[in-house]
Amino acid sequence: MQLHGLGLDLTGWFQIGWSADFEVGDVLPLRYFGQDLVGWRGHDGAFRVQGRFCQHLGASLGHGGTVTDAGIQCPFHGWTWAADGSNVAIPYQDRPNKARKLATWTVAEANESLYLWHDAAGRPPLWEVPDSLAAGVHCERREFYPLDDGGRVRFTDLRVHPQMVAENAVDAHHFRFVHGTPTSPTVIEERVEGPTWWSRVGFGRGWKEHPRGPDGAVRTDSLNTIEILWSGLGVSVNTEHTRDGVRVISVNTTPVEDGTTEIFTTYWIDRAGGGYERRLDEAKLALPDDLAIWNHQTYIDPPGLATEEGRGFRQMRRWASQFYAGENVVP
Ligand code: FES
Ligand SMILES: [Fe+2]
Repeated sequence: MQLHGLGLDLTGWFQIGWSADFEVGDVLPLRYFGQDLVGWRGHDGAFRVQGRFCQHLGASLGHGGTVTDAGIQCPFHGWTWAADGSNVAIPYQDRPNKARKLATWTVAEANESLYLWHDAAGRPPLWEVPDSLAAGVHCERREFYPLDDGGRVRFTDLRVHPQMVAENAVDAHHFRFVHGTPTSPTVIEERVEGPTWWSRVGFGRGWKEHPRGPDGAVRTDSLNTIEILWSGLGVSVNTEHTRDGVRVISVNTTPVEDGTTEIFTTYWIDRAGGGYERRLDEAKLALPDDLAIWNHQTYIDPPGLATEEGRGFRQMRRWASQFYAGENVVP
């Protein structure tokens, strides 16, 4: 398979911002999946994404549109559009225009983040956005520092296909070269089901030599491991247990248009380990190194793999194929 348009044809949830970007009444222009959109938060607190252009005479609702109790009001002639896209008020006529609608997108708000559902076939969501702080077993009974501006980093104007980022999950040997780890990690467990990819890898000699317990069962201890969760190709959660504590890193790639993507990263640091600022800075070190590679990488299919890489990459690409238009998308 060839990858086209850096993921414009993908089905799934894709991050388009954070909850903190939109206070009640805020309106902002957005552009994702090659579409001009407007994002706004209603007086009821709900976040919405709709087509940006007023269906009266085409003014941008994202530039000067205002939120009212009834919906979003256009700055040009005051027409008001409701959350379902219908026109509900024309200030100089006693009835609205029932024939015209604004396109309305399905969105989700979770993990203090905003997500857009995209499906080339127009279906409603086929799965839910996972809870980032419940995604890894490491997170159980952990408390995290509240998210602040430092915990939210957006990379724009990238040339990174979402699948390239997901393939990181099966790419053990880049760690030594890109991230300077002394050895490559060991895969401890892997579960692949429907739109979800979950695996756990361990770092260091202890995991390499004893990936399983003495009874042959999967080890339940977690120091020096990373749990990797993918929910489609747009949303990922890495739960990392280091000597300092647990950190949760979400890395989400979103198509903007043909040839351009953005990556939203969110960092949660657990309280028990203390040292928030230092650990946040450390958590942020790895991604720019990956980006330096991904941003100039091309997609080779089939790739020329070393023998031990074959199984993981084949499984990952088979799993990934379900999210493309024209493929058999889950369920
Ligand atoms: S263009 Fe929006 S009300 Fe006229
Ligand atoms: Fe990496």
